[in-house]
Amino acid sequence: MNAHLSQHYDFSQPEAGYADLARDLRALLAGERDLVANAANTAALIWEALPDLNWSGFYLYKSGELVLGPFQGKPACVRIALGKGVCGTAAERRETVLVEDVHAFPGHIACDSASNSEIVVPLLRGAELLGVLDLDSPKHARFTSLDARGIESLAGIFVESLG
Ligand code: SME
Repeated sequence: MNAHLSQHYDFSQPEAGYADLARDLRALLAGERDLVANAANTAALIWEALPDLNWSGFYLYKSGELVLGPFQGKPACVRIALGKGVCGTAAERRETVLVEDVHAFPGHIACDSASNSEIVVPLLRGAELLGVLDLDSPKHARFTSLDARGIESLAGIFVESLG
């Protein structure tokens, strides 16, 4: 398993980099269905693989709100209402929200003042909202639409792993 953590991923061609990462995430989660275990390993693999992140992790949808799940990075706010912040907006809209400059996003919730850009991908199992996958970066406009497609595919692999 540690082989997954020592692999160097090349994102100079994002599709190829994300294809390698998707292959390794599938292998890492294979045979395990536990949500916390698989969320923890997904957050950790992304944290190791993607350059220029200061936060990588999950908020899980529980009793009508988002609650902090497994992550890498600084301690973060625990509960986010639907519609609030980037995470709550992605969860409410059930679509990926890509923010080039978090300081220009109305209602952005600043958990780490180092964050300048952010992407949040909703986790959907059919019509059911499981939560969101949230990545933050200290770089402005760190995430492109190619990153969005790649991270959506990683989120899909995580959801599929739960069975
Ligand atoms: N910035 C997020 C809150 C979560 S932290 O980034 C980890 C938001 O606005 O929803």
